[in-house]
Amino acid sequence: MSEFVKVIIEGKTYEFPVIIGTEGEKAFDISQLRKLTGYITHDPGFGSTGCCTSAITFMDGEKGILRYRGIPVDQLAEHSTFVETAYLLINGHLPNHEQLTNMRVLLNDSSMVHEDMKIFYQNFPRNTHPMGILSAMVNALKSFYPAYDNTEEEVTKMTLNLISKIRTMSAMSYRMSRGHMVIYPRPDYSYCANFLNMMFDNPVKPYKLDEDLVKALNVFWILHADHEQNCSTTAVRVVGSGKANLYAAISAGIAALWGPLHGGANQAVIEMLTNIQQSGYSIPQVIEKAKDKSDDFRLMGFGHRVYKTYDPRAKIMKKMCDAVLGKLKKKDPLLDTAKKLEEVALTDSYFIEKNLYPNVDFYSGIVLRAMGIPLNMFTVMFAIGRLPGWIAQWQEGVEDPNGKICRPRQIYTGAGLTNYVPLEER
Ligand code: ACO
Repeated sequence: MSEFVKVIIEGKTYEFPVIIGTEGEKAFDISQLRKLTGYITHDPGFGSTGCCTSAITFMDGEKGILRYRGIPVDQLAEHSTFVETAYLLINGHLPNHEQLTNMRVLLNDSSMVHEDMKIFYQNFPRNTHPMGILSAMVNALKSFYPAYDNTEEEVTKMTLNLISKIRTMSAMSYRMSRGHMVIYPRPDYSYCANFLNMMFDNPVKPYKLDEDLVKALNVFWILHADHEQNCSTTAVRVVGSGKANLYAAISAGIAALWGPLHGGANQAVIEMLTNIQQSGYSIPQVIEKAKDKSDDFRLMGFGHRVYKTYDPRAKIMKKMCDAVLGKLKKKDPLLDTAKKLEEVALTDSYFIEKNLYPNVDFYSGIVLRAMGIPLNMFTVMFAIGRLPGWIAQWQEGVEDPNGKICRPRQIYTGAGLTNYVPLEER
């Protein structure tokens, strides 16, 4: 039996159909609200707005649950690879042996980048942020690898180009920013091994692959692979809703991810931890500063729109810090600072009452630093990981038979009708 929610507006009762998700989440469908009542809703930041139904990722922010296509992220982190998880997100099921082998072959075939693209990399000023370069160059893929429509064949081509080339392009961007030669992908290396090799190999000092680091990178990217309707994914879906091509939508997602309140937080956390060490602030002083409403400072890597408990990804990332540093026999003083900050914050009434816990970005930078990834590449690492999720979400959006162009309304609060005043009378 269908459920309805009754809403009384100006004395008149309206019924809106209720949508119930697999895990019992409820929404009422207000798509007819304006037509029936003349009202719209007002929800800045969309905290109470569901913009789609989706079969890709489930999160329960109260219980700290994250599943891709029903599979808990911790199981994927333990047993899967990034390529297999990408297949799962995009195709809706785990691949069999043949499907996985086929995907690996196609990713290898798509891994090179048009040599003419190098000219663009060469001409960006050296200090350009790699996220700006990545967003621009992903958009440019449309010119170098044209796709003419959204048929299955064309979407598969764009998907493989994006997933495979993004790591070649990211490594290329890093190397060229340092004036180093570009290292090409190798057919005998896995997806993650190839990325590390393209970043760090050197003719006079060949890069020695460490299988534990390759595994850690797989886990890092699996943890970032999707997160339902976050800021960048919404950007991807909004751009896709206007029927823009996949490259353009992903380029918009990269731009949205760049912000420090979103994916850029991984860079901001390390900057914050470094500042704490250099400034000589004590941990309690930093916590007080984060609580002070007259101060813009926030504890970066803490808090989340959906998670009101410990982010399940942050738990795995925290363990990974110890494992990776242990394996490399390295110590990172920033990890001690981060752990102390967490300890003090989690016993502070401000953080307890507002349910502010570490999010994925709090510990991820320590893992990346240990791997030798430079600070300004941290958000690029997030983008590579999030790509399969963005692609799956774009695809679901464009294939939705009820999909419409995203076009919210507003409540206008500007000037009333005002007559134009000629320049000489002003
Ligand atoms: N430090 C101090 N106070 C905080 C923090 C923080 N990190 N996060 C939230 N708060 C406080 C806010 O000041 C607010 O207090 P108030 O109710 O007294 O005004 C309350 O907690 C709720 O915060 P909002 O900003 O309203 O929560 P929202 O859901 O809009 O924002 C966000 C979530 C952006 C993640 C926020 O927690 C934040 O800025 N965190 C730091 C940046 C960060 O780590 N971003 C990465 C998020 S994960 C990701 O996108 C990959």
